[in-house]
Amino acid sequence: MTEHRHAHDHSASGDPTDFWEEKYAGASGIWSGEPNRALVDEATDLAPGHALDLGCGEGGDALWLAARGWTVTGLDLSPTALGRADAAARAARLDDRTHWLVADLADLATWPDDAPYDLVIGCFLQSPLEFPRAAVLRRAATLVAPGGRLLVVAHAAPPPWSDVPADRHDEFPTVERELADLALDDGWQIEVAEVRERDATGPDGQRGHLLDTVVRARRR
Ligand SMILES: C[S@@+](CC[C@H](N)C(=O)[O-])C[C@H]1O[C@@H](n2cnc3c(N)ncnc32)[C@H](O)[C@@H]1O
Repeated sequence: MTEHRHAHDHSASGDPTDFWEEKYAGASGIWSGEPNRALVDEATDLAPGHALDLGCGEGGDALWLAARGWTVTGLDLSPTALGRADAAARAARLDDRTHWLVADLADLATWPDDAPYDLVIGCFLQSPLEFPRAAVLRRAATLVAPGGRLLVVAHAAPPPWSDVPADRHDEFPTVERELADLALDDGWQIEVAEVRERDATGPDGQRGHLLDTVVRARRR
């Protein structure tokens, strides 16, 4: 994903499935199809294995991993987004290594049952609607195999072109907040915990800088 199609809808309220479905259905593709920069930075050197992408959207990250030899389960609330991910996987002949699951992360019963994973990623698992982010991140950590990694990437601040009201700034986790939410114990080594700046293009072509909170941890 890059941010050029990204814009929060701050009038959002109500059911998360309706919200995200409407967002995806309202455009032919809301993300770029490219993998997230932090994923490329953090996963390029990892040996391929079994991966889980939480809130995978249209599958840019999952497909990048699959192209590098990973078998990937991509999970999202939105059937429309996953339909696009599946079509892209077929077009790239990566459908034998990708599996798409419509599930609600807020409902633990719908999570996949083929853990553990060598890599679990949650990139921009941020929603203007109610979302149990800390519980989701903690559950995600339980699905990582010994020696495997958990990668969590989040907007550390609203994009410069966004009109996010000041009272919504707690949607943008600091490193400290992310680590507190994850609550990883001694069975984990924190390999990366930092905020990174990157260039991005806004919905109307504006250039700007984005800040990402990046946490990568390895299960011992
Ligand atoms: C900001 S997008 C990020 C998409 C993708 N990870 C990326 O980096 O491009 C958030 C994604 O999380 C999904 N999502 C939001 N709430 C969810 C939930 N409760 N369960 C599963 N997916 C959810 C949305 O449908 C959306 O695709």
